[in-house]
Amino acid sequence: QVIITACGSSRYAALVGRYLFSNVGKKFCDVVMASEFGYFVDSVDKGTLVIAVSQSGETADVIEGVKAAKAAGAEIISIVNRPNSILADLSHHVISLNCGPEVGVAATKTFLSQLAIFYLLSFSMINSFNKARIQLSNMSSKITEALNCNNDGLIKLSHKLKDKSSFYYIARGMNFAIASEGALKLKEISYIHAEGMPAGELKHGTLALIEQDTPVVVICPADYTYSETLSNAIEAKSRGAYIIAVSDKESDIYDFWIRIPKVDELLYPMVTVVPLQLLAYYLAVSRG
Ligand code: M6R
Repeated sequence: QVIITACGSSRYAALVGRYLFSNVGKKFCDVVMASEFGYFVDSVDKGTLVIAVSQSGETADVIEGVKAAKAAGAEIISIVNRPNSILADLSHHVISLNCGPEVGVAATKTFLSQLAIFYLLSFSMINSFNKARIQLSNMSSKITEALNCNNDGLIKLSHKLKDKSSFYYIARGMNFAIASEGALKLKEISYIHAEGMPAGELKHGTLALIEQDTPVVVICPADYTYSETLSNAIEAKSRGAYIIAVSDKESDIYDFWIRIPKVDELLYPMVTVVPLQLLAYYLAVSRG
């Protein structure tokens, strides 16, 4: 069995990895949040591979879980940004993010690097590392495009929405992890309540909280999740939601459109997350 453990943004990158492992490598694995991992250690043994993901390599919950798993005989691979860290020391194998230090509290460039590593790992499972590497090398220009074409619009949007008390982020499949990450970035730097969830879960309770003009960020690239996610956005809109769509495909139901370039469908997380980081940044600036 393969278990990925991490906290916060690193865990959301791991969730993208989980979908990639299944989609590309045809391998099921679980992602366990590090603060809960200790409660599952009874099912860890020497046949278990633990992948621990941590920007800092110093997060106490991750370290504790890894120590317990290692004591139970598991093999440990870590994905870290700081090679001279406790986590790296504890690991049998270390994959370095090589990003340089994250200057602010919000993990941004390391999140992208974690996505890149999971993409490379999943294609390595089918002996296609080089194919994945070539695909990734085209992503810088796509990400720059996603930043440039949205910058001014996001500044205006942040002025409009800066006094909202709650945001909801929805998406399906691997994009669901980006909904969670977008919401986390907003909470962390603008102090606005935000929730990210799989779009299909909206109707199981949270929809009751959607009122006139509640901002709902819908991550709906033109991939295998598009139509179903759009149906969920329509449900939210019928309650009065203000729909902010992150997509490369237009629709009448959007109130605000964050445009992203078309990319391979497994790489959409890289171009959807960056405008959401920028939205969180501009909302924080607008709120002073
Ligand atoms: O250093 P780590 O990746 O282990 O940190 C885990 C979380 O504390 C971290 O990702 C946190 O959620 C970030 N500050 C998010 O921007």
